[in-house]
Amino acid sequence: MKIQGRTFVVSGGASGLGRACVLDICSRGGSAAILDMNEELGRALAAQLGGSARFFACDVADTASIAAAVQDLAGWVMQTGKQLGGIIPAAGVGRPGLVLDKRGAPLAIEAIDFVININLRGTLDLVRQVLPQLAAAPPDGPDGERGVVVMVASSAAFEGQMGQVAYAASKGAVAAMTLPMARDLSRFGIRVATIAPSMFDSAMTAAMSDKVKKGLEKAMEFPVRAGKPDEFASLVRQIIENVMLNGVVIRLDGATRMPSKL
Ligand SMILES: NC(=O)c1ccc[n+]([C@@H]2O[C@H](COP(=O)([O-])OP(=O)(O)OC[C@H]3O[C@@H](n4cnc5c(N)ncnc54)[C@H](O)[C@@H]3O)[C@@H](O)[C@H]2O)c1
Repeated sequence: MKIQGRTFVVSGGASGLGRACVLDICSRGGSAAILDMNEELGRALAAQLGGSARFFACDVADTASIAAAVQDLAGWVMQTGKQLGGIIPAAGVGRPGLVLDKRGAPLAIEAIDFVININLRGTLDLVRQVLPQLAAAPPDGPDGERGVVVMVASSAAFEGQMGQVAYAASKGAVAAMTLPMARDLSRFGIRVATIAPSMFDSAMTAAMSDKVKKGLEKAMEFPVRAGKPDEFASLVRQIIENVMLNGVVIRLDGATRMPSKL
């Protein structure tokens, strides 16, 4: 799949890893539809990128909000004539909490729903609602490719730490749906891959205490640092461009394996 001349839908595109994908895609002649709840950052980024990006306010936990954004972005794609080429559902949240806390209180169901609704349901719902447009694109190249879905899991899909039960459940499920989604979509020439990053610099990790960050560094092999958003975007680009990458979950973690406690 070529980036040049195509439009990519990026949820969570206003910040962090999603933002890096938006910048990378637009710097290579593609267009980006930035779907995010953060209107201020989203609009500022779209303004910075001029005609190659457009912001669409969207709460991925709300089906109607996704539907409205998807309809608006279809109008934008018609206007620009740049066919859809892919979906990068990168909106995500973490809300740590022990499944049973020190006082014997169970994790609030609201905390579980919050994380699952955005990270899992929101990912699947966005992909589901954009897919009809992606499948309607004319097939491209010798393989008849129509597009690619690049989902975002986490190291927590494999080694969730203490306090990450809900987050790990959401990310483990994103990893698990990669292969069946690729199988469902192969007849349309649409590929699916998932990236499972370890700690990357972003607003999400900026909120971590120095103690947590130092603890995570001890679990790192090489390089001993957080990943950079453009290193994430570079793997997304490779997945977009390399037609053989399909139905796979790729760890992007410098051999880090998360310990139980920090
Ligand atoms: N940064 C890391 O270390 C790391 C590691 C593993 C996985 N991830 C995953 O990468 C993805 C991106 O995270 P990030 O680190 O860039 O964080 P970030 O906080 O910088 O960006 C997340 C973006 O998602 C948006 N968002 C949150 N809830 C939303 C909703 N309901 N609807 C629409 N947009 C919403 C936010 O406004 C924000 O712009 C997430 O899925 C996260 O779980 C991040």
